[in-house]
Amino acid sequence: MTILEGKKILLGVTGSIACYKAADLASRLTQAGAVVDVILTHSALEFITPLTFQSVTGRHVYTESDLWGSSGHVTHIGLGHQADVLVIAPATANTLAKLAHGLADNLLTVTALAAGCPVLIAPAMDGGMYRHPATQANIKTLQERGCVFAGPGVGHLASGLRGEGRMLEPLELVGHIRRVLGMHGPLAGRKVVVTAGGTQEPIDPVRVISNLSSGKQGYALAQAAVDAGAQVCLISGAVALETPVGVTRVDVRTAAEMARVVLDETTNADVLIMAAAVADFRPAQAGEKKIKKEADLPAIRLEKTVDILQAVGTRRSESGFPRVVAGFAAESDDLLENARSKLFTKKLDLIVANDITAQDAGFGSDNNRVVLLQADGGQQELPLMSKSEVAEIVIRQISHLLDAQNTPAISSP
Ligand code: CTP
Repeated sequence: MTILEGKKILLGVTGSIACYKAADLASRLTQAGAVVDVILTHSALEFITPLTFQSVTGRHVYTESDLWGSSGHVTHIGLGHQADVLVIAPATANTLAKLAHGLADNLLTVTALAAGCPVLIAPAMDGGMYRHPATQANIKTLQERGCVFAGPGVGHLASGLRGEGRMLEPLELVGHIRRVLGMHGPLAGRKVVVTAGGTQEPIDPVRVISNLSSGKQGYALAQAAVDAGAQVCLISGAVALETPVGVTRVDVRTAAEMARVVLDETTNADVLIMAAAVADFRPAQAGEKKIKKEADLPAIRLEKTVDILQAVGTRRSESGFPRVVAGFAAESDDLLENARSKLFTKKLDLIVANDITAQDAGFGSDNNRVVLLQADGGQQELPLMSKSEVAEIVIRQISHLLDAQNTPAISSP
């Protein structure tokens, strides 16, 4: 279950070739459990049919005839009032101009005027039209009124030229919609720092000591924190994952770099979640030149890296920040005993313990089976579930821990 589950999303589609991407967007949102009502403008009907959207949403699709039908006078009010968010994608220059000037000459613009929910706009148009001062002024007006803009992106345009004006891809738009839906969530105004992925400790210029962490659990935590309204900084080792929309990502390589950035980012943070698999040892001396195989077998002397959570704990005992600290315990033996010991020695509020020997969960997998242990003695054993579901539960517990401290949010949303 994600933040999209059960949400009422009103999707306004206007006349642009990007209409075909809006069908994909409607499909993705529906598959994620949202209830998607679509309004097609007259020009959108030149590009795509109501049947396309009806087929992917399973719901009646609204067109101009619904404005003038026998119940037209209540349709636009009802659609606008029931929605959790109004998404206009693609939004043409013409529709932006109408919205900026409060025109209400079709079902979509009438509905937008009547809607009390947040409005997310994904423009799609030729680069020249987008850059035109009139369009820019309209965008500014709408932003000042609280509309959120997603894109446009740079790329191939229908004119055959490259430029700014392309509607964002549906997957990215889903991220923007999640962000808007979560805006006033339980972590609104809170700064959450998450680490993810494995670190790399250089042996020589081409070789490293690393580990098998995929980063999936950390990235899922960053997404769940955005869904809860937090301002999220994701400190990431090298992983092949997309950064969730709304997350500020800082790439790091070594444990020492990660330590530096974590200490820096958590001076004023509400929460730190250390999901990264940090190397415990590194070569005491990284070779400046590539070690050649003709040479004798190299002996690599190791030294300990800094324990980041220990360092954060020491700082926290003086400053009080971060307010809540959560760690992970990757164990192959004595799961609970080892996790509990890390919970206390690293002075954590919460530890997420997982058995890395499990075949169906853990490193690299999309699923995890974890036990959550709290410093106050609370223990919650979770069944096998997706890393996104684990992330949601961890974020919920963290927000309860913050609530219990009764501290004010220190950052603006
Ligand atoms: N961690 C850390 N700094 C390190 C190593 C680990 O902050 N140098 C953090 C991890 O991000 C995790 C927690 O400590 O949140 C526990 O990591 P884990 O690898 O399970 O334990 P270690 O402390 O490294 O101990 P061991 O490897 O001996 O189990």
